[in-house]
Amino acid sequence: MPSSEISPDRMPRHVAIIMDGNGRWAEARGLQRNRGHLAGVESVKQIVRSVRELGMEYLTLYAFSSENWNRPDAEVSELMRLLEIYLDENIAEAQERGVRLRVMGHMDRLPQSTRAAVDRAVEATLENPNGDLIFALSYGGRGEIVDAVRDIIREVEAGRLDPEMLDEKTFAAHLYLPDVPDPDLLIRTGDECRVSNFLLWQIAYAEIHTTSVMWPDFRREHLEAAICDYQARERRFGMTSAQVEKGDETDDGGRAEPQ
Ligand code: FPP
Repeated sequence: MPSSEISPDRMPRHVAIIMDGNGRWAEARGLQRNRGHLAGVESVKQIVRSVRELGMEYLTLYAFSSENWNRPDAEVSELMRLLEIYLDENIAEAQERGVRLRVMGHMDRLPQSTRAAVDRAVEATLENPNGDLIFALSYGGRGEIVDAVRDIIREVEAGRLDPEMLDEKTFAAHLYLPDVPDPDLLIRTGDECRVSNFLLWQIAYAEIHTTSVMWPDFRREHLEAAICDYQARERRFGMTSAQVEKGDETDDGGRAEPQ
């Protein structure tokens, strides 16, 4: 159940999170950075549960960016290892709750064992009907847009698409997960205020909530605070307040219905 301050009829449908601050959380405690990532896994578990309990349909977590490949090898290996363990240990819970695990990004760059764990989780939960848990993995928003452009060029070259017919809706159909509605709420933890190459196309109208809480400390109460913040905003999608109050149609670039 949502807390009493949250209005159940104005919940975000899709929440996306930039999980930041694992390293600083660990360093502040005199620990190795990897201990922060390990603590961050517990937050992932708690927040995945909270999102389901609060009734939101889509959660996208920025688990590993295309730029994260530049981190020291030992840290990259540890992140991959944690991801593999997380996936293998949480398939059962995802099944129980009917959650579908999905990924977006360049899976071909992942170590073979991580890719295998991803495949197992995606395959096992493919038919689950109660919401999507999406991991952005080896993911970059610019890369996703470039990949979409490459796809579109191929369509044009094959004579399947007239460039004159290309519009936002057609473009969005070439993104990695075209059936997923744009995030309504983007949360970034760790006291930073950047989008860091995350879902660049999809966050065009997302409400952004930042918090100084480091990811390993992020819990349901912080998620609820973000939702309260979201619900206090007026989403105008470029229109006037009067139009929004009247319930005029919006144009969200051809993706899912804005709320
Ligand atoms: C940023 O913290 C976080 C990441 C690079 C990835 C998030 C990873 C996890 C939560 C752990 C494993 C994930 C899963 C899905 C099981 P940072 O290291 O950039 O923190 P800093 O800014 O304080 O250095």
